[in-house]
Amino acid sequence: MTAKVSIIGAGMTGATTAHWLAEREIADLVLVDVLEGMPQGKALDLQESLPIVGKDVTVVGSNDYTATKGSDIVVITAGIARKPGMSREDLLATNAEIVRTAVQNTIQGSPDAIYIILTNPLDTMAYLALKTSKLPRERVIGQAGILDSARMRAFVAMETGVSVENISCYVLGGHGDEMVPLTSRSNIAGISLREYLPADRLAAIVERTRKGGGEIVSLLKTGSAYYAPAAAVAQMVEAILKDKHLIVPASAYMQGEYGLKDIYFGVPVQLGRKGMEKVIEYSLEADEKAALEKSAAAVKESIQTLHTLVQL
Ligand code: APR
Repeated sequence: MTAKVSIIGAGMTGATTAHWLAEREIADLVLVDVLEGMPQGKALDLQESLPIVGKDVTVVGSNDYTATKGSDIVVITAGIARKPGMSREDLLATNAEIVRTAVQNTIQGSPDAIYIILTNPLDTMAYLALKTSKLPRERVIGQAGILDSARMRAFVAMETGVSVENISCYVLGGHGDEMVPLTSRSNIAGISLREYLPADRLAAIVERTRKGGGEIVSLLKTGSAYYAPAAAVAQMVEAILKDKHLIVPASAYMQGEYGLKDIYFGVPVQLGRKGMEKVIEYSLEADEKAALEKSAAAVKESIQTLHTLVQL
């Protein structure tokens, strides 16, 4: 394997990301965490599973960032996760310090890396990673849209009994309660969801999608979702390493697109070996535009709070 992917934070999302990536056999993996022995133990366990599934990649665990040297992609999942009753914003102060440290400790050894940020509050942490690393926006991308859209796709599949492969959904905006499931663009085999589903069922799916993360937190009680977030990161990593030019929703730094500047925001992007190659601009209906503006206002507020905590 020539590609190298380092995952900072070997907790639930980090370790599960490594699992999904090892199954894809696209890169050697490094897991870094502050907990002594934990990343080493998880890496060794995962490595020992690979003869069974027939995948030839190496998985290394470490407490030392030097293990990440020469990474093609750095995934940041380090930080605290939500507990019941907490919003993603409640994590801001703690996670800002952790994400900043993770970027500072990886950037020198991996000056060519593309960063994928998963730590919440997502859009704000991606913004922090961009400003800390001083990388071009192409190389710092936040994972959120694939996850939120996958949740919506799963709910549509449950409702209709149609294969998830036929269901395309697009959830844009900030990765918070104001996210915007675009029902005008979402479809089943080309048939708009607005035609396919009764309005009340569609509205219920939109609502459940928005609160999808919270639903898992209240069930788990001790942490937040990890299978689906990690699978979303794995899809992004694969699209980048294989230079697929894959269009997916993800959090990108806005430079005027959708009328937005200087924030990270969930929009359709094209992913390839250079990272975020392009932001795709949809023409939107008036109600969707208004919903995106409301979502952007929430992200802006979070970024303002970040500025009061960290000198950028
Ligand atoms: N460097 C490396 N690892 C760190 C650091 C640090 N400075 N600080 C904390 N960690 C590690 C913790 O030791 C823990 O193992 O980050 C890991 C986080 O794992 P979990 O607590 O299992 O949380 P997880 O579910 O993976 O979520 C992490 O991702 O999806 C988001 O909202 C979620 O912000 C949260 C993050």
